[in-house]
Amino acid sequence: MEFKEVVKARRSCRAYESDPVPQDQLTAILEAGQWAPSPLHALPWEYIVVTDAGVKAKIREISEAAKQAVLDGGGPGFAAKYPMDFLEQAPVLIVVVFDPTKKGLGDFFNQKFGAIQAVSTCVQNIMLAAAEYGLGSLFFTWFDPEKMQPVLNIPENLEIAAIIPIGKPKGEVKAPPRKEARIHHEEFSASE
Ligand SMILES: Cc1cc2nc3c(=O)[nH]c(=O)nc-3n(C[C@H](O)[C@H](O)[C@H](O)COP(=O)(O)O)c2cc1C
Repeated sequence: MEFKEVVKARRSCRAYESDPVPQDQLTAILEAGQWAPSPLHALPWEYIVVTDAGVKAKIREISEAAKQAVLDGGGPGFAAKYPMDFLEQAPVLIVVVFDPTKKGLGDFFNQKFGAIQAVSTCVQNIMLAAAEYGLGSLFFTWFDPEKMQPVLNIPENLEIAAIIPIGKPKGEVKAPPRKEARIHHEEFSASE
């Protein structure tokens, strides 16, 4: 696939077949994450690869509780129809954790988000690599991190950037339409 095809092939996938992801593909997908940029080349992320049904069920349980919290808090109605069964359907969940203190030199000039910026590019590399193999993925964050951390034995100094299900998409994944890019020239302009 050409790069622009891969970019468009990556769609947020919320239904998966259970077919396992071949180990060589999983290895290459995680390797793609390692080629993401990071401040001071700190690579502030690590991966937890989850394939065990029991662990996936716990991840789903914590996520379902977060969905309920949104509904109880008067959040958007679509939440009621949002199926979280894909957290158990997908053959693999890649949990990307990161160290928020590994943020480069930003503290010297009031930039705080280096680690978050870096790990986000890592997550995107992973999702693009999955797309190249015809695999679906999702940047999933709908959970209370404090409740998820102990389930996965994540040390307190690390945070969860995303839980990424990976697997063969079940059915067609439609892309939500894109707005035209807002592009300014030379400086921000309200009229452009
Ligand atoms: C930081 C971040 C968090 C997200 N969290 C969720 C999530 O918890 N659940 C979900 O279904 N999609 C989540 N998404 C995916 C977006 O809903 C999705 O990217 C957007 O609707 C555009 O669709 P596309 O990815 O197919 O282009 C998240 C995306 C980002 C970047």
